Amino acid sequence: MAILEVTDLIKLFRQSDETITAVNRATFSVEDGEFVAIIGPSGSGKSTLLHLCAGLTRPNSGSICIRSQDITKMKPEKLAQFRGQYIGIVYQRHNLIPHLTALENILIPPMMCGKPAFSYEETLKKIVNSLGIKDRLSHLPNELSGGQQQRVSIARALINRPQVLFADEPTGNLDRANAEEVLSMLLRAQKEFGQTLVMVTHDMTIARRADRVLKMDDGFLSRMLPEELQ
Ligand SMILES: Nc1ncnc2c1ncn2[C@@H]1O[C@H](COP(=O)(O)OP(=O)(O)OP(=O)(O)O)[C@@H](O)[C@H]1O
Ligand SMILES: [Mg+2]
Repeated sequence: MAILEVTDLIKLFRQSDETITAVNRATFSVEDGEFVAIIGPSGSGKSTLLHLCAGLTRPNSGSICIRSQDITKMKPEKLAQFRGQYIGIVYQRHNLIPHLTALENILIPPMMCGKPAFSYEETLKKIVNSLGIKDRLSHLPNELSGGQQQRVSIARALINRPQVLFADEPTGNLDRANAEEVLSMLLRAQKEFGQTLVMVTHDMTIARRADRVLKMDDGFLSRMLPEELQ
């Protein structure tokens, strides 16, 4: 069953007298529990597409249905609540709040949507164990390594057990060993919790591990055939 259905999505950016079509009639869907990778050259519209799907920006036209609910039609308050409950996002740079501890950062989503403590405690335990950050929870972001910071941001994205996890080059800022570890943690979440994962990546070795690969080229999205990935 499709968990995410995107239809005819268009996003334009106007800059003085120029209009950029960052996303040009993108149509795709993602099945429950699937890992879909999105690849493509710099500036082709990958982050824009991901931000639209995560409800961080609004499209000019088209629809984005998550579990059959069209997020493009939601009022801002409803969308904010929906995002907190159903959508997780991991950025290339971790985006942690510097004056909050790792634990406080991880708990932002449940706090925001008013989940009672007992409903996330079990998940928290599982996630921090699986990510290997159990003994780092009282540290501030600048007391953590880059890899640990990214793990905290993954924990924050997973804590509400989102329907879809969007990740924008989550390993782009890490060295090879850390990148491999962070990737295998995301894949473990997919295998163990059936976490649906949509990931933008430059790395073909990561894309080859996805169930399906989509290619973005100058705003146009298309499917990559397995033979093109060799
Ligand atoms: N807020 C914005 N205002 C104006 N133009 C923008 C904005 N965000 C993105 N763009 C433009 O939209 C196009 C797509 O940008 P986007 O960031 O989605 O590319 P990308 O594929 O993620 O690139 P990269 O691989 O370098 O991260 C680019 O031409 C970019 O300059
Ligand atoms: Mg980008």
